[in-house]
Amino acid sequence: MAERLQILVLNEISENGLRRLPSDRYASGKNIAMPDAVLVRSADMHKMEVPASVRAIGRAGAGTNNIPVKAMTARGVPVFNAPGANANAVKELVLAGMLMAARNLSGALHFVGGLAPERPDLEKTVESGKSTFAGFELAGRTLGIVGLGKIGCLVADAAIKLGMNVLGYDPDITVDAAWSLPSQVRKAGSVTEVLRIAQFVTLHVPLVDATRDMVNAENIRLMQPGAVLLNFSREGVVSDDAVLASLATGHLGRYVCDFPSAALLRNERIVCLPHLGASTREAEENCAVMVADQLRDYLEDGNIANA
Ligand code: MLT
Repeated sequence: MAERLQILVLNEISENGLRRLPSDRYASGKNIAMPDAVLVRSADMHKMEVPASVRAIGRAGAGTNNIPVKAMTARGVPVFNAPGANANAVKELVLAGMLMAARNLSGALHFVGGLAPERPDLEKTVESGKSTFAGFELAGRTLGIVGLGKIGCLVADAAIKLGMNVLGYDPDITVDAAWSLPSQVRKAGSVTEVLRIAQFVTLHVPLVDATRDMVNAENIRLMQPGAVLLNFSREGVVSDDAVLASLATGHLGRYVCDFPSAALLRNERIVCLPHLGASTREAEENCAVMVADQLRDYLEDGNIANA
């Protein structure tokens, strides 16, 4: 039997993805000494020495911040990713985030969760809960989307179906995205314009030099009073200090983010999630299948897609 290709798997990867690398031709696991390729989800590969035997890396997700892409490119090692494979999952969580903020759901859950279970005064709970946690509706409000890639386009479409007005900004929009963007989306000329006009602003950009601290002390004060900022992209895209200062003055209404940053914990107007955007069974499977197929095509036939 020919030697099997060795795949180092650094995180839990969906079984359906691993099955694309059949065991008669591939050995995969987390204890592979001389891997031909690496399959990774969130492990930080900047912190490890990538073995010299590695010929390709597959990232089961869209972003590649956890991979030393430049160093790998210099070594001639392609890094494959799975753009769009988890976009629907992220879109759904963005919708949940908007609803959580608009309807004060995290505060209301804490309130009910804190009741004395042995003798809760349910009538009083309903009465005071209704007034304390009264919210507002999404329909008729304006959602600003910065970044009109696959996720941004899906969020735009869903928001329009919920009756929202949508304002989008992306200086690098692709032809594909431009075609799939609903015609009702009004185009903004800058991030500032989006921040100034929208009551909800959601960010869907990669973390690169141009997007680091994209929402900062200078421009957060231009947002609508009481506005909701959502960050389901990357941590460094928003300045935590700017968010905290703006919430403290009562200007920013809510911040919803998909990162459990220490500075943001225990603030009742912040919802911090443990990077759950892509954590659905479907998205994990889509990403794993997409990168496993790409790795196999490259290792067996030298084909390159999405590297
Ligand atoms: C992504 O870049 O697509 C997400 O970070 C995926 C993940 O959570 O693994």
